[in-house]
Amino acid sequence: MNLFIFFCIFVQFSIIQVRTDECELTSNDADVQLTTKTFLQSRQFCSETRFPSRNTRQIIISGRLVDYTARCKRGISQADIEIIHGQSGFHPICRELHHPNSRGFYNLSTVIVTPFTGQLYIRVTSPGYETVLKRVPISLSSQRKRKTIFLQLKLAMVRSEAQMEQQQDQQTQRMNSIVDTLMSQMTIEEKIGQLNLVTVGFDVTGPIVSENVDENIRQGRIGGVFNTFTPKGVRPLQELAMNHTRLKIPLIFGYDVIHGHRTIFPISLGMSTTWDMAVIETSARIAAQEATADGLNWVFSPMVDIARDARWGRISEGAGEDPWLGSQIAAAMVRGYQGSDLSSSNTVIACLKHFALYGGAEAGRDYNTVDMSRITMYNYFLPPYHAAVEAGAGSVMTSFNEIDSIPASGNRWLLQDLLRDQWKFNGFVVTDYTAINEMIEHGVGNLQEVSARALNAGVDMDMVGEGFLTTLLKSVQEGKVTEQTINQACRRILEAKYKLGLFDDPYRYCDDSRPGTDIFTNENRLAARDFARRSFVLLKTDRKTLPLARSNSTIALIGPLADDRRNLLGSWSAAGNWNQSVSVREGIINLVGNKNQVLFAKGSNLIEDTYMLQQLNAHGGEIVIDTQSAQQMIDEAVGIASKSDVVVAVVGESQGMTGEAASRVDIGLPECQKRLLQALFNTGKPVVIVLMNGRPMTLTWEHEHAAAILETWFAGTEAGNAIAEVLFGLYNPAGKLTTTFPRHVGQIPLYYNHKQTGRPFNATQFTDKYKSRYLDIPNDPLYPFGHGFSYTTFEFGTISGDKSELRGDSDRLTVRVPISNRGAYGGEEVVQLYISDPAASVTRAVRELKNFKKIYLRAQQTDEVTFVVTTNDLKFYNTNLDYVWEEGDFIIHIGPDSVNTQSIRVKWLK
Ligand code: BGC
Repeated sequence: MNLFIFFCIFVQFSIIQVRTDECELTSNDADVQLTTKTFLQSRQFCSETRFPSRNTRQIIISGRLVDYTARCKRGISQADIEIIHGQSGFHPICRELHHPNSRGFYNLSTVIVTPFTGQLYIRVTSPGYETVLKRVPISLSSQRKRKTIFLQLKLAMVRSEAQMEQQQDQQTQRMNSIVDTLMSQMTIEEKIGQLNLVTVGFDVTGPIVSENVDENIRQGRIGGVFNTFTPKGVRPLQELAMNHTRLKIPLIFGYDVIHGHRTIFPISLGMSTTWDMAVIETSARIAAQEATADGLNWVFSPMVDIARDARWGRISEGAGEDPWLGSQIAAAMVRGYQGSDLSSSNTVIACLKHFALYGGAEAGRDYNTVDMSRITMYNYFLPPYHAAVEAGAGSVMTSFNEIDSIPASGNRWLLQDLLRDQWKFNGFVVTDYTAINEMIEHGVGNLQEVSARALNAGVDMDMVGEGFLTTLLKSVQEGKVTEQTINQACRRILEAKYKLGLFDDPYRYCDDSRPGTDIFTNENRLAARDFARRSFVLLKTDRKTLPLARSNSTIALIGPLADDRRNLLGSWSAAGNWNQSVSVREGIINLVGNKNQVLFAKGSNLIEDTYMLQQLNAHGGEIVIDTQSAQQMIDEAVGIASKSDVVVAVVGESQGMTGEAASRVDIGLPECQKRLLQALFNTGKPVVIVLMNGRPMTLTWEHEHAAAILETWFAGTEAGNAIAEVLFGLYNPAGKLTTTFPRHVGQIPLYYNHKQTGRPFNATQFTDKYKSRYLDIPNDPLYPFGHGFSYTTFEFGTISGDKSELRGDSDRLTVRVPISNRGAYGGEEVVQLYISDPAASVTRAVRELKNFKKIYLRAQQTDEVTFVVTTNDLKFYNTNLDYVWEEGDFIIHIGPDSVNTQSIRVKWLK
């Protein structure tokens, strides 16, 4: 047995090549934690190995292959990994043809017999990637004893452009030839038909619905269908297109798969508060897997609209207020949906929306006018769209609003100059629901005029409105649009169909056996539970009430959302079935029901305001006013609260109170719920508020009185189980806000990356007049961007930079900060890096997020987090809209949120 003395070498390196230098690795990120687990498994495996000769070595390599072509990590799942002996002319001494798992993790073990030279090479080849050859120094001081060598490697790879280009060229040639042949046979009416998208089936997501769909398909007057799914729902329509149309062009099938398809994940705003790109990408991957099993091949997601106004109900659908984080998330979503090959039967075309600036609606009222400067667009609102285009999004949806006084669907600057000419987008553009027709209301022409305008601006597909279908032919005849423009739009739709593989097999997404195996699986539900836990934000904690005791206590579970399933899925819950979701009450009973006493009372209605109630119920709200009076409900709740050790109050919005067409001017809790909370606070028992909602809310009063506030958004199918796991400490919450929570609705728009004014307000001199401030409340928010507590306490040591003066584009600043977990629980912290540019040619935001690391520390563990700052992090759009950095001073801030940071100042010269 003493042969088995294990010697572990942790080699952590990255092979960083051209264009990848911003992506640095540390031993702290989540991937490495996973890798460590893999490593431990390999260690166990190794203990059974016997060595035949003295020169035999067992090499165990575990790690991950990661694509660093884009800024974000993405696992590479197909690769051959060889161990090579350098002295024998790079001949492999061991060829382990190895296939990493779907997220790029590999774990291989081999025995080699060789005169040991102290160095080996690892060669990794993967289709479409540069071959990587990496020298691995093995330092063995005592060869006799150390027979087993563990290597933990994380290999960063970049795509091989030559290989990719060659593959792509062949594909493009084939696509062009198929599309050319088809188009040469199409009449102009058939071409216009391809530009028509209709809604049919289960869902209505706009004011009108399509008619005569079957007949129109037969006539070749429809290119795509949305709002219908399941192989059974899709196949007959596809059969109509394949068996009854002249040219048998398959239809494309779209749907609003926004945060999961059948297994519903937290709403998008909640997914963003995970600050975890692997989680976000995986959620989109699972959604694509389920959607394609259900007949679909196109999803109307990601929604990447930056939003700074919590009154706007659709803030729930996006990733918050920050353009940098929003860009990471947008790209991760596109990768998750589209994978690396659109033609595989489990990937879908993503649809980036709503292009553009939809989140800038004045007064937070949905569909309202947007008016902003170009420089603000470029610096703060456009980056996530751009990132999604760069990630390869196959389609783009126009927004309902106007931009520079021209509705987005007719805005040629937006759709041609910016999207196609500057950003090189090569997919297709679809309008939002009847957005072309709505240009009439905007006041820019009649149906024929606005349809021509939309086509000429760069729209390829008309959603539901049929303006293209009914007017384009006439416009061609009258010379208002050219046949060439119609050809171009038609070509783009046909290309999308080709890329999806529909010309090879129009029924590839109609496999009747897949729903049973791919949809709402246990695995997907577990993923939903995990993503939900990760999305929760601990807004307030008294550091003693949570986590709750798992046994021997009495818990009063109270609130209109405590025993509710209906609302857990949030808006856009697509094909999710709320009956299958888990309520908080069920989750708590599942987890601790037999060890704790759990008393329940509803306590109040969700909402009593009849004006709002009627509207919510007119659109499926299903909010039933309790037969008990408000006072009876409160009395019952107070009764059980008084008998309990702790109160868990589950309160918030109904799912219909956020989302599309759900703007509110009062973003606080409904009055009836506040009255309940007041009564619970009066009992003197510690009250834990579990919030469910889809927007930042005003919680100043609640913050003063609650022992803890856990923001859980609308957490999806597994909400109740996830909430229970967090309340009882099986998972330590680590979510961080991606939107600012104001103290008062009157502060809106309130966001962390605001500009400095000429008269900034200093809160310590609060009687100062002539400052940019309010008389009645402070300027600062209740909870800032990036905020979120943990059950443990993280202490940030002093930050340090390796340089105070830097020069030129290629210089790098390394910033380090030690972080200690001072509490009793292991937990994750999102370490955030912001940069300020105090003097520039244009005014800059007070600070901007430029990087973050999510780390895990065991209780009492200390680690160091390192960031590498490059000139790319200093760039901004100047007044000419050039993306530049300017020399001068920069302040680097690091901290657990956007406010509580430490800073260093550096000079960076050209
Ligand atoms: C929404 C889009 C959605 C579309 C299709 C519109 O009302 O704005 O986000 O994708 O409907 O349902």
